[in-house]
Amino acid sequence: MKNLFAIIAIVGSFFATQPAFASGGEVLDRAPIDVKDEASLQAGARTFVNYCLNCHTASMARYSSLRAIGLTDVQIKDNLLFTAEKVGEMMNTGMTRKDAKEWFGVVPPDLSVEARARGADWLYTYLRGFYRDTTTPTGWNNTLFPRVGMPHVLWELQGVRVIKEAPKAEGESHGPAAHVVKFETVIPGKLTANEYDVVARDLVNYLVWMGEPHQVARKQIGFWVLFVLGILIVLTWLLKKEFWKDIH
Ligand code: HEC
Repeated sequence: MKNLFAIIAIVGSFFATQPAFASGGEVLDRAPIDVKDEASLQAGARTFVNYCLNCHTASMARYSSLRAIGLTDVQIKDNLLFTAEKVGEMMNTGMTRKDAKEWFGVVPPDLSVEARARGADWLYTYLRGFYRDTTTPTGWNNTLFPRVGMPHVLWELQGVRVIKEAPKAEGESHGPAAHVVKFETVIPGKLTANEYDVVARDLVNYLVWMGEPHQVARKQIGFWVLFVLGILIVLTWLLKKEFWKDIH
């Protein structure tokens, strides 16, 4: 009986598959994402294609992969193809690396697996951490990524904010999370603060999904495999009991 519990415990521990992303000690806002939420993934894909592919690439992702989140080829073609002509093409940017280097000082990194590199919470905090700062080359700064080379590309949605009060961050390279900083909105955006958070959530959700498009199917298959194994363990144990019943 003890063994049975041990086996169940080991099997159970496989369910805790999500790694906790170790971060550099900074406080992050928790991203309330759900990669099974197709509406959220579609909204995130739209924001990504509209606002991010101008500078970044996602060279491991094809537009056609968006079929997996419930979009048809016609929908992809009509609404999302800006930097490509065919649905089967990779998500590339219209900008050359040389131009990017000249304009931003750094080449915007490929975002295919950015969510796996940084983690969802980091991205969520980052996308909500931009503020106006006239001392930087772009005129923008970020609480989590001080003096980042990327401008606040979603400013029309979020509005223009300045920092009113920010506690000192512990590390040198990282700033405090957006939720502990007091911002003041100087030009309101098209969205309310809550609506902007939803846009950021959906975008991060999409980035996480894009980093590993098969994760939903993989987890479902994993669940059923473990479920069937669990039943087999119980049956085996019952069988063993049956065999040994008369021997003692
Ligand atoms: C105008 C060009 C431009 C656009 C548009 C843009 N970015 Fe960036 N992004 C940059 C540059 C340049 C950097 C590099 C910043 C640095 O290293 O200082 C960057 C860096 C980043 C990073 C940090 C990468 C890392 O791990 O260091 C993330 C995440 C990111 N961008 C996400 C996005 C998302 C999501 C969008 C769409 C909402 C977007 N970017 C749109 C130019 C852009």
